[in-house]
Amino acid sequence: MTDQYAVIGNPISHSKSPLIHSMFAQQTGQDMSYEAIESPLDGFTATILRLRDEGYKGCNVTVPFKFEAFKLCNRLSNRARDAKAVNTLIFRDDEILGANTDGAGLLADIEKNLNFKLMWKDALLLGAGGAAAGVLWPLFNAGVGIVIANRTLEKAQLLADEFKGSGTVYARRYDELAGKQFDLVINATSSGLSDELPPLPEALFKPGALAYDMMYGRDTPFLRYAREQGATTVSDGLGMLVEQAAEAFFLWRNVRPDSKSVLEKMRA
Ligand code: ATR
Repeated sequence: MTDQYAVIGNPISHSKSPLIHSMFAQQTGQDMSYEAIESPLDGFTATILRLRDEGYKGCNVTVPFKFEAFKLCNRLSNRARDAKAVNTLIFRDDEILGANTDGAGLLADIEKNLNFKLMWKDALLLGAGGAAAGVLWPLFNAGVGIVIANRTLEKAQLLADEFKGSGTVYARRYDELAGKQFDLVINATSSGLSDELPPLPEALFKPGALAYDMMYGRDTPFLRYAREQGATTVSDGLGMLVEQAAEAFFLWRNVRPDSKSVLEKMRA
């Protein structure tokens, strides 16, 4: 029987995950299906339990359910525990296992696809919501020094407090960034959705800098700003999407898909 998988979110109709996983499955000869399922906002747990009872092998979880998924799991990977969020579920016997492949996806895209070495680099992480929290530990573990900037400083401070004593993670207001320069600036805010730019100063990018927007599928004000300000490399988050999917695929199927060729196809 064909193994069934799905991505659960709300809204979900624009998700590119079914296309990505069908390309992975075809490429590796895996007998599986993968569909997008919209869960009611107040019915996430019921949706997951129903899919498990119907014999699905696993799910991806996206906005706004990653924290609920985290709470639902019987066992968590270290990365999921660090992020306090789960984007990949595995149904095994009567257990629900939870992993988080978002951070690994970002790292793979930056280091492998964009050829940007992270160790010892100074990063500015914009935003302190779920998207920022999900990549903070992986960036820290990759040896990156991190300034978290957010309109609401308290939220950035709460995230930075997890790294107290490390001397490499700090929270700042946007108006404290003037005169500072970074090797890497990651936009993890949802500002692009409303076509807005976080209040960034001029001359933020060091020579060779990478500007990365975790959003994909649209030319955001952040991407335009980064080009105007002379960032050496400017990237949207499509590669992160493909790479987090590849990690999830590997967890489920024990086979590594060729993510680079899928990313190239998606770009074309
Ligand atoms: P997500 O899960 O996508 O991270 P979220 O948890 O709602 O969504 O967080 C949204 C983030 O984008 C927050 O950091 C938010 O800043 P505040 O905490 O100060 O609200 C940030 N954000 C949204 N719109 C923004 C804008 N126009 N400029 C700067 N930051 C913005």
